[in-house]
Amino acid sequence: MEKIRFGIIGCGAVSQAHIEAIKSIPEAELVAVADVVEEKAVQTAARWGCKAYGDYNEMLATADIQVVNICTGSGVHMEPAVAAAKAGKHVIVEKPLEVTLERADAIIRACRESGVKLACIFQSRFTDCARFLYDAIQQDKFGRLVAANAFVPWYRDQHYYDASGWRGTWRFDGGGALMNQGIHSVDMIQWLMGPVKAVKAYTGCLAHERLEVEDLAAAVLQFAGGALGVIQCATSFYPGYPKRLEIYGALGSSIAVDDRVTELNGDRFTESEKEELFRKMADKEAARNFRDPMAFSFEGHKKQIEDLIRAIKEDRRPFVDGEEARKSIEIIMAIYKSAAEGGEVELPLKEDPEHIKTVHGR
Ligand SMILES: NC(=O)c1ccc[n+]([C@@H]2O[C@H](COP(=O)([O-])OP(=O)(O)OC[C@H]3O[C@@H](n4cnc5c(N)ncnc54)[C@H](O)[C@@H]3O)[C@@H](O)[C@H]2O)c1
Repeated sequence: MEKIRFGIIGCGAVSQAHIEAIKSIPEAELVAVADVVEEKAVQTAARWGCKAYGDYNEMLATADIQVVNICTGSGVHMEPAVAAAKAGKHVIVEKPLEVTLERADAIIRACRESGVKLACIFQSRFTDCARFLYDAIQQDKFGRLVAANAFVPWYRDQHYYDASGWRGTWRFDGGGALMNQGIHSVDMIQWLMGPVKAVKAYTGCLAHERLEVEDLAAAVLQFAGGALGVIQCATSFYPGYPKRLEIYGALGSSIAVDDRVTELNGDRFTESEKEELFRKMADKEAARNFRDPMAFSFEGHKKQIEDLIRAIKEDRRPFVDGEEARKSIEIIMAIYKSAAEGGEVELPLKEDPEHIKTVHGR
């Protein structure tokens, strides 16, 4: 079996999930890792048996790799992703794709121009829960969709922000509870419900000090299909609770807690289909910690990397490609614009909000 060879840029917290995922896939091989703090690359390489680089450009020029995993802080995805694409490597970027539409578009453009695949990590989409809800909506099992609500009532302590140079900054985290933590739910709600037409929002920093960005965001959404929605994301709800996704239709509804369907109602669901779903949900281990940023398994990353390998071998689009990953950034930018300027913001957005452009010197 011909293996697909991977190199990782950024040897911090999330790289662990990428490495364990690659190591668990027979068709994948970890060849090299790079980190601007060379010692981190050296330690990671020694532990996992691969080559270390202090400069990712050197890795791109010399390592025999086909795919590059971008695991740097969110506002430092663009430079290594564009360099990797220009070097002819397929690219898989951690969420968010980037912290502005302009920077995300630069990655999408570079990958398109180089003819390489681009995938962005949104592991929640690869759960049984997400697949069931998506199929149920496609098969019109809920009837006309009326509302979708996503709540992310998490907690991050002050140390989480203070210990990192990039977290909690506009420039390098791109926002707070919404852009960093809530984006998985923003992606999920738009994937299930379709495009968002308009938003109205408030954000605040209520429970942290020395934080530029929001630790609470609350938004009302109008979907193009007519349904309404609410998104509330926090890193300020001590001690943290499971995230929740509610879908309400004229003929059925569901509630999912921590990526598990806990309520499902509607005459269009058969008893055997419900039994099978709840059996699958019972198999998933319940999370108990909503304060620890790394309290998740690498299973979702594994499924997504497997999807990219199939996309390369079959020459098709990855399941979550650049255009898909851009959609959640656009909704988040609309929410930030509404919170900063007041009133309703309609989508599609022509460009990043003014206060965010200023942060990036534009
Ligand atoms: N999918 C998820 O659920 C999930 C979970 C956690 C983090 N993330 C995402 O992963 C990304 C990284 O987060 P993290 O918590 O691992 O951050 P981190 O700060 O722990 O690690 C980032 C690493 O990148 C390195 N780095 C920075 N600039 C570099 C450069 N120019 N060249 C090479 N290395 C460089 C840093 O030295 C550091 O080791 C973020 O975008 C974050 O949003 C995703």
